[in-house]
Amino acid sequence: MLILGIETSCDETGVALFDTNEGLLAHGLFSQIDMHADYGGVVPELASRDHVRKLLPLCDQVLVDAGRARSDIEGIAYTAGPGLIGALMVGGSVAHALGFALGVPVLGVHHMEGHLLAPMLEENPPAFPFVALLVSGGHTQLVRVDGIGEYELLGESVDDAAGEAFDKTAKMLGLDYPGGPRVAALAEKGTPGRYRFPRPMTDRPGLDFSFSGLKTYTLNTVNAAKDAGGLDEQARADIALAFESAVVDTLTIKCRRALEATGCKRLVIAGGVSANRRLRAGLEAMASKLSAGVFYARPEFCTDNGAMIAYAGAQRLLAGQRDGERIVAVPRWPMNTLPSLAEPRMNGLVD
Ligand code: KG4
Ligand code: ZN
Repeated sequence: MLILGIETSCDETGVALFDTNEGLLAHGLFSQIDMHADYGGVVPELASRDHVRKLLPLCDQVLVDAGRARSDIEGIAYTAGPGLIGALMVGGSVAHALGFALGVPVLGVHHMEGHLLAPMLEENPPAFPFVALLVSGGHTQLVRVDGIGEYELLGESVDDAAGEAFDKTAKMLGLDYPGGPRVAALAEKGTPGRYRFPRPMTDRPGLDFSFSGLKTYTLNTVNAAKDAGGLDEQARADIALAFESAVVDTLTIKCRRALEATGCKRLVIAGGVSANRRLRAGLEAMASKLSAGVFYARPEFCTDNGAMIAYAGAQRLLAGQRDGERIVAVPRWPMNTLPSLAEPRMNGLVD
């Protein structure tokens, strides 16, 4: 089954063609980062308008790259949420219009399920069950995964997401949006041990996270450095490293607990922050002590992309799940409400 996948939940227009027999055929991404950089974050209305401009040309480009025609498409998957409502509506409208015109099934996919399953696009994909750490700009969650749609939430952030904390730290250090990769690059030049930041909520049992206190701690450190005679390049790098180390250690401690609590021997990391090199290294070192494996997608499939939506949608479309005639667009949507593949409907929101 040839599936067109469409991602428009935030600031990237992503499109991919995934064949359930042949695998990923082609994918394309148009990033709006430069457009939003002047504003220090995503401006929702500008995001929607740019998806309108970019989505159809990107669909045509991906078809050309894959050597396929529109009429070859046998199913369409689009991100139905969570995300920015206007941005989601663009992808949902195009998906439903195209599906109606071609007479093929259409399905709204959960964005975080897309992230979660992205490592399945790589060689040596993880087998079920596994523990997944989902770390993006909007989510930080630990999930036990027994199969597609079989998700048990083990813990989550009670306030800021890890990616959001990276983005806010970047702002404090005068770096552009999105901050994660820029903080990571600056941290490369940092002096280990010059600052030590707290590892929030690791001193008590449980698998929840909190990053808002760490953000305040970072801000206080930045301000103290300024007051003490200037925040030079080295101090900024040292703060970036202290912040990154605190996030990595915190995530690693919680992942170790989750592996121990579930007895799982596989850890999947997904979402934008899973592209972080220090995080990958920290988790791999921890997991090897437990004789567990760590699985992640190539960096371009850690951040938002169409391939993960095409893949997740393909599994569900193949199982017979599909939307009714209504476009599904849900800004907030808990992932553990998703049905398994055995259930006939994608979600309670669909006709
Ligand atoms: O998954 P994603 O592309 O979008 C959401 O669904 O939110 O994640 C974006 C987030 C941003 O907060 C960005 O700063 C962060 O992922 N990020 C990183 C890295 N690359 C992206 N954070 C730390 N290190 C990175 N290398
Ligand atoms: Zn995402």
